Amino acid sequence: MATVLDIGVDLGTSSVVIHGKGKGSVLNEPAVIAIDRDTRNVLAVGEEAHRMLGRAPGNIQVMRPLAEGMIADFDLASAMLRYFVTKVVGKHLLGGPRVLLSVPGGVNEAERHQLISALFEAGARRTYLMERPIAAALGAGLPIGDASGQMVVDIGGGVTEIAVLSMGRMVVRENVKLGGDAFDDAIIRYLRRKHNFLVGPITAEDIKITLGSVIARSEQFYMEVTGRSLLTGLPKVMHVTSDEVTEAMAQPLQSLLEAIHGVLEHTPAELVGDISDAGIVLTGGGALLSGLCEAVQLSLKIDCRLAEDPQDCAARGCCMTLEGWQEFSRFLGDKKKR
Ligand SMILES: Nc1ncnc2c1ncn2[C@@H]1O[C@H](COP(=O)(O)OP(=O)(O)OP(=O)(O)O)[C@@H](O)[C@H]1O
Ligand SMILES: [Mg+2]
Repeated sequence: MATVLDIGVDLGTSSVVIHGKGKGSVLNEPAVIAIDRDTRNVLAVGEEAHRMLGRAPGNIQVMRPLAEGMIADFDLASAMLRYFVTKVVGKHLLGGPRVLLSVPGGVNEAERHQLISALFEAGARRTYLMERPIAAALGAGLPIGDASGQMVVDIGGGVTEIAVLSMGRMVVRENVKLGGDAFDDAIIRYLRRKHNFLVGPITAEDIKITLGSVIARSEQFYMEVTGRSLLTGLPKVMHVTSDEVTEAMAQPLQSLLEAIHGVLEHTPAELVGDISDAGIVLTGGGALLSGLCEAVQLSLKIDCRLAEDPQDCAARGCCMTLEGWQEFSRFLGDKKKR
């Protein structure tokens, strides 16, 4: 009989990432689901649903079950989780996989139960929950069990979770409803205000990834962007420069830096000293934004490094816990074992 794949899952606003025990990344798909508006039947999930965003007819609703890091629609989030987990591990009538799920901050006890039920329905033999910053820090390779302060900043699509950890626990934790999506929104607002030019969120994200840097580049880049002129209402192609994108993203960058600064201010002095020595680690897909680490370093005068494969850190941390159960299960905290 084939062995069942135990998995670590990160349920995010933008994407769901799954790592399999001994296999590394086995799934990374957009956290999007398409349903029939009348019957609420699920029509598509993940990549397929993402392609429908902004293009589906009125009877089909395409949505993200999570918003700003929080589960906005529990039924749809559960359906999406069930779909992805079954896709990765197949159907098991008996002895299904063990699943370790990283949960966003602010999920209450009833919601935790609902997530566990959804995974049970997907065939999970056991489900464990882990706080996102702990999973991300583990996945980034931080020695979180040490009696020394570590700071991890997980920048997702909808939320940034900033945490200071010591001896496997979170000493300070702050969630700010500002992630990569806020940078996309800032680009949309800037182009509308400055050029009367309208682009959608997918184009804005493309501009951010291709051209965006939060610190002005020494060499200027540009790209041709297709959108709509708000003056004529007609399609228009525009040259957008990297300096413009840097200017557009200044405000969310400032808010992010202030949030990290705020957490440091509330951190006990000994731990701030440790962080100053060890540096700040960025995880999450939003951390891939060019220049972000340099901006953190310049603003806070503390070293900053980008974790390897930052978008995978939380799922990897969950999977590492399953793999090294003896060593890592203590980081699940109380009441997290089911
Ligand atoms: N190369 C890149 N450059 C800049 N931003 C990027 C890059 N790749 C991904 N992103 C951004 O990362 C964000 C998604 O990150 P991630 O998948 O970690 O979010 P999530 O975990 O689903 O969301 P959350 O943690 O907020 O619930 C998006 O805003 C996306 O635009
Ligand atoms: Mg995330």
